[in-house]
Amino acid sequence: MKLIILLTFILIVNSADIKACLCSNLYTEFDCSNAVSFQAASQDLFDVKVCIWLEGQCIDIIKDFDFPCNVLDEDTCNNIPSCAWQNLQCQKFTKCSDYTYEKSILSKSCDDINCLDNGTQCAFDLIGRSEQYCEDIAFEEDCSRIYLLYKKTLCNWNGSACVGQKLSSCSSLTEKQCLQANAQCAWKNNSCVKRTCEDGQYSFYQSEGVKLCSSYLDIETDQIMYCEINEDGQCGTSNPEDLDRRNCYSQSFQQYYWNPDNEECQMCS
Ligand SMILES: *[C@@H]1O[C@H](CO)[C@@H](O)[C@H](O)[C@H]1NC(C)=O
Ligand SMILES: *[C@@H]1O[C@H](CO)[C@@H](O)[C@H](O)[C@H]1NC(C)=O
Ligand SMILES: *[C@@H]1O[C@H](CO)[C@@H](O)[C@H](O)[C@H]1NC(C)=O
Repeated sequence: MKLIILLTFILIVNSADIKACLCSNLYTEFDCSNAVSFQAASQDLFDVKVCIWLEGQCIDIIKDFDFPCNVLDEDTCNNIPSCAWQNLQCQKFTKCSDYTYEKSILSKSCDDINCLDNGTQCAFDLIGRSEQYCEDIAFEEDCSRIYLLYKKTLCNWNGSACVGQKLSSCSSLTEKQCLQANAQCAWKNNSCVKRTCEDGQYSFYQSEGVKLCSSYLDIETDQIMYCEINEDGQCGTSNPEDLDRRNCYSQSFQQYYWNPDNEECQMCS
């Protein structure tokens, strides 16, 4: 019985069952130090990890190592996603709802720890350290921007609350919802269809500005579709094995790592 519950939970958490490279698979400081921002930008929060580069190695400070937050100053603390600045000291981050939103004191307190605020408390983890639910989002402005790629769930404001809508295709979405789900969908010829590399995608929580040429998951097949900027400067399909040092990990939906020994982009196993 317990096993069934556990399996169901895993399926809900990660509907496409994507396995990403571990921090220990990353051999360059560039990939390691940017791992969280790469994940967050393209919304591929399938297996959240917090990698830091320490003495020439990439370490997961949630899973591999109990990082000593208490020795950090405020600025460094705010840059480490498993620590939180609270009561004038750096502490281990627990979960968003353990932190109070004190508008009068720290106007950005929830932002600093990568959470949204709900008016009284921090709620909803923007980088997925704990499971994200649309229902934890209190404001329309936040709700109508968020798409939970790893659950294929679109957040919709129903007039008074934020509710999640699980998608199996793009076809029923309005233009605005289609843009919100642009990690997997694109608005073309007056309808919402699944995206291609050429469509690109906006960075998490943005609906305008520069589009990322990110690799993505096909909404119908759950296949990873690899994209990169080609010679003409356009976003097109790619073969991840041909990616260079800088793009190997960031453009491969966390599936490939740069091997500095043979200078090749290889799949994490
Ligand atoms: C804010 O979050 C807390 C903790 O989850 C919850 O108890 C409270 O009802 C929420 N408030 C609003 C306005 O949603
Ligand atoms: C919106 O969703 C909330 C929570 O599910 C529900 O209580 C409320 O009745 C809904 N409001 C409308 C207008 O559908
Ligand atoms: C747009 O949709 C119409 C009607 O379905 C179709 O006739 C037309 O060929 C489509 N145009 C493009 C560029 O796909």
